Amino acid sequence: MKKFYLTSPIYYVNASPHIGHAYTNIICDSMARFRRIKGEDVFFLTGTDEHGEKIQKAANKEGVAVKNFIDSKVDIFKQLWPKLNISYDFFVRTSWEKHIKVVRAVIEKLYKKGDIYKSKYNAFYCIGCETFWTKLQLKDGDICPECGRKTEKIQEENYFFKLSKYESWFKKYLKNNPKLIQPKIRYNEVKSFLDNHSLTDLCISRPKKRISWGIELPIDQEYIVYVWFDALINYISGIGYGFDQEKFNRFWPADIHFIGKDILRHHAIFWPIMLKALDLEIPKSIFAHGWWKIKEEKISKSKGNIVNPFELVNQLTDLLGGNQELAADAFRYFLMREILIGADGNFSFKALINRINSDLANDLGNLVYRSLNMAQKYNAGKVKSIKKDIPSEFKESLAKLEKDYDNFMVEGEFCKALDNLFELIGVINKYIEDTKPWNLKKEQKEKELFSFLYAICEGIRVISIYLYPIMPKTALSIQKQLGIKDISFSTQEAKWGNSDNFLIKKEKPLFPRIDVS
Ligand code: MSP
Repeated sequence: MKKFYLTSPIYYVNASPHIGHAYTNIICDSMARFRRIKGEDVFFLTGTDEHGEKIQKAANKEGVAVKNFIDSKVDIFKQLWPKLNISYDFFVRTSWEKHIKVVRAVIEKLYKKGDIYKSKYNAFYCIGCETFWTKLQLKDGDICPECGRKTEKIQEENYFFKLSKYESWFKKYLKNNPKLIQPKIRYNEVKSFLDNHSLTDLCISRPKKRISWGIELPIDQEYIVYVWFDALINYISGIGYGFDQEKFNRFWPADIHFIGKDILRHHAIFWPIMLKALDLEIPKSIFAHGWWKIKEEKISKSKGNIVNPFELVNQLTDLLGGNQELAADAFRYFLMREILIGADGNFSFKALINRINSDLANDLGNLVYRSLNMAQKYNAGKVKSIKKDIPSEFKESLAKLEKDYDNFMVEGEFCKALDNLFELIGVINKYIEDTKPWNLKKEQKEKELFSFLYAICEGIRVISIYLYPIMPKTALSIQKQLGIKDISFSTQEAKWGNSDNFLIKKEKPLFPRIDVS
């Protein structure tokens, strides 16, 4: 069985999650579910980034011990993921004792190899981004070029990792592996950065006298490990590097690291070089998605414009008749359909409701509800395949879906896959209107009526499979309502005609129209 290892970034626990974090994990979950239904052995890793100055400061501000502070924040993330129907396989924490051991072992190995050395350091530090900048990179004197906050000038002795030693290797590697960084625009960004800058060695320690919350450097007790160096290692500790070699060998290298474009440099430059120095394989791809904004400003705690995903899903649950799982699916659908994966998008409640009303209530919900209603009304819910021909009206969109869906999903183009799927939904809705089954019933054209009922139910079953990665609970509800005994979302089952009969158990509409006037 082919393996597929994918990761989300590990989230900082200095604040509660917002919809930007939800977005990354929904992308990962959709990919994980898609790969599972293709029959692959998937491992989806997510987790939390719990060390560093930012977190120490946040805990101090609340007047709580750092350990208690992080534990309570981690709980919030762990509650959020099931609420958004996220099906991760392991939750890694950087405060986890096994992760700490791996980080220390990595540093010892690189130190012995001569890739880590001690030196004096002069730089500007942005606590918000936990990132060092050189004077030349700053904006307006001392402003962080990434987030626009003031940086702090820092002069101290520290330990450095020899990024520069691997620069020419990495440039060549990147040139030969244009798919390493996706989408193309991000590949070009990294390439042009490397063309125009030489890599300076990475400072990987912080003196304890300045910051104490982190993993002690195994080679010098006066220091802790730089939070990014610590955090990136989660991708190997999370699958057992150094303590569960069998699992590690099974899943490494990662097939895809999903990240936001804000953390591209750390993943696309530091991480491959760290792995090369460790003699480990390089991930197959690093995929940077865009940002959700509100009125053109990135959603972030520092901007104070966060949208709380718990509140949003609760609100949708009320508006959609009380089913939280379907409300979470509606939110997932909006995030995945509204923008292309590499692009930025503006979030608004109005846009969310409009999407739900037009696509989920009108198109999908209406198709399922009225189809099952007709099956119940015209033949007591019993639908049999007298003939399994695909109605000619469906052929073009179905063929398009069969041809492109896999490719779009593999490439993370969820929006395009959904475009094709909703085209088919539109086609079946139109087929119902054009066929006018109520006349077939009146005229007692039984054969035609039964063929019609089978065609629409089989169409809905096929749709439920393609929909599953993005809207898993909706897909499940559809198959249950169709009365499918052996519920399955395997992509192999998506073939037209795989079902012989249905025994409809219609429930209330999946997505009622929301009136928020
Ligand atoms: N802890 C680091 C990642 C370490 S990975 C080894 C970090 N954490 S974070 O909590 O600040 O952000 C994690 C991710 O959340 C971002 O990379 C991005 O994927 C996502 N987003 C945060 N804000 C976002 C938006 N406004 N929009 C979309 N995604 C955003 O960085």
